[in-house]
Amino acid sequence: MALLMHSCTLLAKILVFPLYLAQVCGLYKFYKRIFPAFVYKVTFRYNEIMKDKKRELFRSLTKFYPPNGPLRLLEVGCGTGANFEHYPTGCKVTCIDSNPYCERYLKMAKAKNEHLVYERFVVASGEDLRAVEDNSVDVVVCTLVLCSVNNPPKVLQEAKRVLRPGGGFFFMEHVVADPTSLAYFFQHVFEPFWYYFCDGCEITRATWQHIEAAGFSDLELHHIKAPLNAFVKPHIVGYAVK
Ligand SMILES: C[S@@+](CC[C@H](N)C(=O)[O-])C[C@H]1O[C@@H](n2cnc3c(N)ncnc32)[C@H](O)[C@@H]1O
Repeated sequence: MALLMHSCTLLAKILVFPLYLAQVCGLYKFYKRIFPAFVYKVTFRYNEIMKDKKRELFRSLTKFYPPNGPLRLLEVGCGTGANFEHYPTGCKVTCIDSNPYCERYLKMAKAKNEHLVYERFVVASGEDLRAVEDNSVDVVVCTLVLCSVNNPPKVLQEAKRVLRPGGGFFFMEHVVADPTSLAYFFQHVFEPFWYYFCDGCEITRATWQHIEAAGFSDLELHHIKAPLNAFVKPHIVGYAVK
């Protein structure tokens, strides 16, 4: 089975070689422009399906209020602002995304969610949050992002740096399936296509291992089966405390 999987994955890699060349030549940058439109459509549907899970997760945001003042929240890889509706009233939101073309959709999400206070949108990578001071936020949120960042441990290290002591890192991410499952086979075979069509997203990441190794003081992490297609059905959801 492993040999078949590796052979099929190799074939898939050969088939996507023209896309690899396009990326090397810089042509892939064009896709970055249109990707937010794709994210907007996909996350709209995702949010509907995952609404209860998200609601349950973000209910715990209340545990991280500072003694005085509103909740200061940083969303890394905010995309089109799909999580805004779940944030508590008066929450001060700073958004970071490596794709500047998200801003147009963020404006629409802001208009729909007037219960929040928007601080700023910063174009930066999660691996380098130098725009945000040490110990300055109560909560960092990352949903469907650790699958596509270049360096998950670095993103987690940066999240920990900007969180105040006792602050929370909230996550909801699709992850690699159980190695004995058929989904695991298909995730590996289709990953080369998925990677290029979903802006560098890798569906075979064991992201929980990075979160467990990040050195948080407390961790609430659940493995769930999301009601989504087999490629992204296995999810992890929860929060970690600095
Ligand atoms: C699938 S979208 C998810 C958007 C949003 N978090 C949600 O749940 O709907 C992934 C987002 O992460 C952003 N992203 C990818 N790599 C990143 C990185 N290294 N740093 C910051 N943002 C990144 C992408 O530009 C994209 O907007």
